[in-house]
Amino acid sequence: MNRASLVLGALALLCAAPAPVAAQNLIPQPVSVKWGEGVAALTTVGAAEVTHLELAPLADHLLGMIPAGRVRLSFEGAEDLPAGGYRLSVAPELITIAGRDYGGVWNGIQTLLQLFPADVYRGANALSANITLPVVTIEDWPAMEHRGVMLDVARTFVPKEQVMRLVDNIARHKINKFHWHLADDEGWRIEIKSYPRLTEIGAWRGGDSPLFPVYGAWEEKYGGFYTQDEISEVVAYAALRGVEVIPEIDLPGHSRAAAIAYPEILCGYTPNLTASGGYDTRNMWCVAREENYAMLDAIIGEVAALFPSPTFHLGGDEVETGAWRACPHCKALMAERDITDAARLQDIFMERVIDIAARHGKDAAVWSEAADSRAIPKSTTVWAWKNPARAARAYAAAGYPTVVCAGEYFYFDMRQSARDIGHTWAGVVTLEKVYSFSPAALGFTAAETANVRGVQATLFHELGLENGPGYVDYQLFPRVCALAEVGWTPAEQRSWEDFNRRLTERSARPGGSAGSPSHLDRLAAMGIAYRAAEPAPDTAPLKTPAVTFTSSLTAREREPFSRVSAYSGAARTIRSVVEGDWLLWTFAQPVTASRIDIKTGYDHLQRGGIPSGRVEVSYDGTTFETATRMHDLKATLATDRPVRAIKIVSESPCNGETFTIIQPLKIR
Ligand code: ACM
Ligand code: ZN
Repeated sequence: MNRASLVLGALALLCAAPAPVAAQNLIPQPVSVKWGEGVAALTTVGAAEVTHLELAPLADHLLGMIPAGRVRLSFEGAEDLPAGGYRLSVAPELITIAGRDYGGVWNGIQTLLQLFPADVYRGANALSANITLPVVTIEDWPAMEHRGVMLDVARTFVPKEQVMRLVDNIARHKINKFHWHLADDEGWRIEIKSYPRLTEIGAWRGGDSPLFPVYGAWEEKYGGFYTQDEISEVVAYAALRGVEVIPEIDLPGHSRAAAIAYPEILCGYTPNLTASGGYDTRNMWCVAREENYAMLDAIIGEVAALFPSPTFHLGGDEVETGAWRACPHCKALMAERDITDAARLQDIFMERVIDIAARHGKDAAVWSEAADSRAIPKSTTVWAWKNPARAARAYAAAGYPTVVCAGEYFYFDMRQSARDIGHTWAGVVTLEKVYSFSPAALGFTAAETANVRGVQATLFHELGLENGPGYVDYQLFPRVCALAEVGWTPAEQRSWEDFNRRLTERSARPGGSAGSPSHLDRLAAMGIAYRAAEPAPDTAPLKTPAVTFTSSLTAREREPFSRVSAYSGAARTIRSVVEGDWLLWTFAQPVTASRIDIKTGYDHLQRGGIPSGRVEVSYDGTTFETATRMHDLKATLATDRPVRAIKIVSESPCNGETFTIIQPLKIR
């Protein structure tokens, strides 16, 4: 059957049985579900038969989760389906899953598991053996071939075990690509045997590390990396779950960690260290330095060998050309190639590394800016992360295979509501907004849509440090559930109301067996600390006693210190803080408070503030004593004596910015 007749066949199935498709709360919604009569009681002890040896690990995996039932896993009977497709049949005597391929069998197993009570996710012995399942026939395949989730482990390191847990959680949603953002300015996370300093030095920030601390803690050295064996462990764990792991080494920008470890990769000009407390913040590989390509060949070669994925993500985003424009070698290269725009040096660089990746057997993927000149080969997959209607569409229109990960829909480091944690540069990305994505709704033509390989969630991770390990779950779930359905279910079969009901409401099951869990019940059983509701507003009343703010720093004209004194917003200074700088709040009258919160830096990010310093308090307005210390750019003062003044004395440079942000005090 070709694809068209398959679609007709599926429609016929749907018409023949106007079944309570949603009654089982399946996510993502399958293409075709035909409920049968009654229920299948699982009486046999768990037993599985496989037609191909490569399916044996899946049989073991499934039998480790279900308490009973006879199951047959095969590739037979699904040859006509698209990649990732499967047929699932639940009958009283036998459950069969026929997959188009290995991933198809995995996907069929995930649908089968959703027919069980949610406790099936709690481990081997969580369910009693007396289980009944609805009799059902499901025929299903993905709308999009690429259904991905990206995790940035550079800004916040994520230990191997947590990465595997995330891979398991996304695979339960038929997500089939895990994009691992392994190197960025803030950290290099993968062992490279031929260049060991990449992780010896580049994997650690703060403390005595030469790598700029950037977020939060200043005195502590923190970070981590994966050995090559650990990488292989994660790749194998993902492969068992039908998940392809796509590595990313972000080039030629976003490379500060590599440049701190091997400064010779930089353009040869004198760095300006004054704005950054003595840290070298340069992050661009020199395009003209020939030795760089030998080094990149070794790095890309080692990484390529660890990942069976045919795709290697080479970054290419947010290139800053200042260093290239100041570099005599890059300038000479421009003259030699007769180019006047330094941005075009990126084309030269990308062409070289795309070629290196190809020699190591990999097709390249890039963030969208790398394709802006249209100079890179059309075989390169473009990760379109900016304006989806215009930019993402334009790459698809130009003939690039395109993965849409547009900020407005799929950057899950954005807030889920105005009161949630997260960034806002791409707006508030609600669950409904994620669900609303479709190329057709954004005006993509059929030809452009044909170049859309799929959709991907993106979690850049600078907020992970201050929000702890639960942050990943909170940002990703349930938004990944919506993404999964966007990538899987045909757009014409999708309905936000229906999705939201399957996600949140329990329902009766066909055949009169026990009720179906909501999908949130399943997330809970998987142990996912998902975002359940919008956070409550902070209603604790704040006091605003008259205060004068002064500092050794000078405020910018447009963000003056008067804002801090009026409790009306942040002030921003014209330069970065250095050791010995001070901030002083002097109250008109002694203030009695149960708690005073002091914060520097952005309101949602531990950056641009005072990472280290003394917090002094004065009870008489003239003599000061040290009360506490700044930590993660903030401090809390708890004293039962009336306070006349508070002073912060910096003991370090500012982190991450060329200015310092001062927030109003929060006094309770
Ligand atoms: C990106 O967000 N810089 C890809
Ligand atoms: Zn250069």
